[in-house]
Amino acid sequence: MAGDTIDRLVDSLTRGEKLALVRGAADPTGTATGYVPGVERLGIPPLRLVDGPLGVRIPGRPATAFPAPIAVASTFDPATAYRKGAAMAREAAVRNQDILLAPGLNLIRVPHCGRNFEYYAEDPILTGSFAASAVEGIQSEGILATPKHFVANNQETNRVTVSAAVSQRTLRERYLPGFHDAVDAGAGAIMTAYNRVNGTHMSEHRELVTDVLKEEWGFDGVVISDWYGTESTVAAANAGLDLEMPGVEPDEQIGGAAEEEAAEQPTAFEAFADGMPDPANFGLFGEPLSAAIDSGAVPESRLDEMVRRVLGAMDRLGRLDGDRPAGELDTPEHRALAEELAARGTVVLENDGVLPLAPETDIAVIGPNVHEATLGGGGSSETTPCVTTTTAAGLRDRAEGAVTVCRGHAEIEDISFFDVLAGKSTGRTDGEETETDFDSAADAAARAEVAIVVVRDRATEAKDRESLALPGEQDGLVEAVAAANDRTVVVIQSSGPVETPWRDSVAAVVEAWYPGQADGAALAAVLYGDIDASGRLPVTFAPATEYPASDPGQYPGVDGRATYSEGVFVGYHHFDASGTDPTYPFGHGCSYAAFAYRDLTVTGDAIVELTVENTSDRDGCEVVQAYVCPPGSDIERPERELGGFAAVDVAAGTSERLRIDLDDRAFSYYDDGWVLESGEYTIEVGQSARDCPHALSLTR
Ligand code: BGC
Repeated sequence: MAGDTIDRLVDSLTRGEKLALVRGAADPTGTATGYVPGVERLGIPPLRLVDGPLGVRIPGRPATAFPAPIAVASTFDPATAYRKGAAMAREAAVRNQDILLAPGLNLIRVPHCGRNFEYYAEDPILTGSFAASAVEGIQSEGILATPKHFVANNQETNRVTVSAAVSQRTLRERYLPGFHDAVDAGAGAIMTAYNRVNGTHMSEHRELVTDVLKEEWGFDGVVISDWYGTESTVAAANAGLDLEMPGVEPDEQIGGAAEEEAAEQPTAFEAFADGMPDPANFGLFGEPLSAAIDSGAVPESRLDEMVRRVLGAMDRLGRLDGDRPAGELDTPEHRALAEELAARGTVVLENDGVLPLAPETDIAVIGPNVHEATLGGGGSSETTPCVTTTTAAGLRDRAEGAVTVCRGHAEIEDISFFDVLAGKSTGRTDGEETETDFDSAADAAARAEVAIVVVRDRATEAKDRESLALPGEQDGLVEAVAAANDRTVVVIQSSGPVETPWRDSVAAVVEAWYPGQADGAALAAVLYGDIDASGRLPVTFAPATEYPASDPGQYPGVDGRATYSEGVFVGYHHFDASGTDPTYPFGHGCSYAAFAYRDLTVTGDAIVELTVENTSDRDGCEVVQAYVCPPGSDIERPERELGGFAAVDVAAGTSERLRIDLDDRAFSYYDDGWVLESGEYTIEVGQSARDCPHALSLTR
């Protein structure tokens, strides 16, 4: 439909109809997370918005539970985000939804942020590549993507009130690029963050929402508030917010929860008090917006623009012409994809040779939650799977030797505001069950040839993890198992980095993140070497005190301000600058194959080429990383920036020629505009931020 037809449609709408298009309402089908009623007399259909980044979340209606985005990013292959996005979109279509509230792409600044699993990486170029691919994948199937949460929603503690005190340079070089890439990929919607940036709530941030996002980047989609994240009428409307969500009070908008549960909702708002929005924030774009237009505080033309953007979103999807994709749900392809991505995203952090396992090995499978699949963290990304393979079942199915299963520790229970809402949990974790049975675990380990101990963290939206230590007595469980069997493999299922105090006493350490419904099947594929171990870390692992955001002023903030005083030195940039050795560096992961890099070249326009030779007798997948090291500079710059990367399959004994285009932003800094300094750069090529044996020189 042409723009002038949308204009005509806008002209035909009454004020009341326009207002109804920019404020969410209750979905009569009870399926959508957010709902915009249509205007029947003009043939404008309703619009349904649904969570989220791990799968389609409609309570009580199953969908494929994919691995968490941090696991997908660990593939270092953005095509995986495209395929997952397309599959989620097909499933959303089956459920009659129009807009997916995904991808989540906040940069991982604080290692214990409760939502790190929903995000991609600590590096902006890696984040942006995955975000752009996810957007393209989702939108390839007739569903719009909603990159979120714009911007600087980097912690859950006080997420609704905290102000990120962050410089323009840091925003531009770290927190904005992923969103810019998602917009360049054609994102049809974007969700504002709850937090404030330099004192102003993101839903009211004219400079970032209108000046940067809409005008500078040319974003022509809909700017949607986070749920109950609209804080005002006039300021939000004038700042550029287009659609208030959910627009209705909690007991009308309950994401499909049963009505009797809705009555309990206030307790969830209390239990997660430092991370929940004010449930009274609704209706600000209803009558109050009309009054603001009448008083002249908001120009009428602004309401028209909001409506034009909402109708434009419908039009992009063909919905104004009655188009609606059929989609598909829980197909064999989606199940296989969920398993493939979980396996490829699994990172072998260390391996003394115990892995891959021979099929006939006698194993003990130990851990508090091995009887279930680890789907994800708590909150709006919770997905109800159609089918699961538990950790124990997946290993048992694959093993040809004896398998003993022993939990050895009380279950680590998930924490979720939906459980609080449904009266199933108090939302508290203090005084939790930490009952252990280390003796049985050690016995099982001693009797097996290899002991596999699976440990996990617990994370949720609206709360940060209390520390990077494993909850309960799981460190003790690992120590007890390792003391009984010197061929112990530790598998971590976590939302982000965890501390690994026992790593020197075990034979292998594997990070499987939140693998989703295919948990045990994917883990077996990696542990038995059915595929290469090709995952690499998108975040640095280190003790909590060594991250930049470890001072209270930086995180969680003092007097409502989290000061980003580390500037651009986030993640590996900080560890490079401070000279501290991380436990496991950014980009690290151990393949089962071995690779040599030959004939490296770099052209004047920053294209690296090299030959990757698989020198082993196993087929493998190598992740080549190219880092840009700036020349001496007038300003303080990081020692190296990831400029480009590629994951490549290389069959045993063969070679592949590879091309990596380096991103200009890795050469540049921001000072009222991007500045690409001229001089002699070093391009480091290697296998992690701390293992780059090849250096090329490039003059720009
Ligand atoms: C989250 C969003 C989510 C929305 C709707 C909020 O609590 O921050 O990511 O899309 O709820 O469920």
